[in-house]
Amino acid sequence: MVDCIGNLISVSLAMKVKLFAMGVAVAMSAGFAATAFAQAKPDVLVKQRQSAMTLIGKYWGPMAGMASGKVPFNGQVVVRNAGYLEVLAQMPWDGFDAGTKAEKSRGLPAIWSDAGKFTESQDAFRSAAAALAAASRGGDEGTMKTAIGNVGKTCGGCHDNFRAK
Ligand code: HEC
Repeated sequence: MVDCIGNLISVSLAMKVKLFAMGVAVAMSAGFAATAFAQAKPDVLVKQRQSAMTLIGKYWGPMAGMASGKVPFNGQVVVRNAGYLEVLAQMPWDGFDAGTKAEKSRGLPAIWSDAGKFTESQDAFRSAAAALAAASRGGDEGTMKTAIGNVGKTCGGCHDNFRAK
């Protein structure tokens, strides 16, 4: 009987410990979730989207040079840079949150007043970047250069309407 109660107590203790651990785990994951979804401050969002654009420019530059003949063609570099660009092409856009309207940046008001067109311009860039990545894996120089040119049109197309000079 005493043994029995002893067992009961130790079981309930073990359960309490377990429940407590579960509670901590739930509280922690809720904390992580809150961190993951918490909106960054407007100035940070601007910095992040500009950083993504800066990297887009970094990996884009050599390919533009190759397409225009200013830089010797190197298929390996195109494969690498096009792969990076395809991923980078997804990154800047959530930084154009309405909360950043008042921040100093080169983003024009049309980003918000003509949001549909801005989204279309993003889509055009993303598909051109994906097509370039696919072309680079195909290995044909001419096809790659054409695909590079197509990406370039989407950069300019968006900057003309949505980026201050
Ligand atoms: C859908 C629109 C859009 C597309 C497509 C786009 N950009 Fe941009 N880009 C912007 C906007 C808007 C800014 C200004 C961002 C700011 O100041 O917050 C910008 C800024 C930049 C900057 C300056 C970053 C800085 O330091 O502030 C570079 C470099 C750049 N873009 C390169 C490119 C290149 C290269 C491509 C194509 C390979 C490209 N962008 C495609 C909209 C676009």
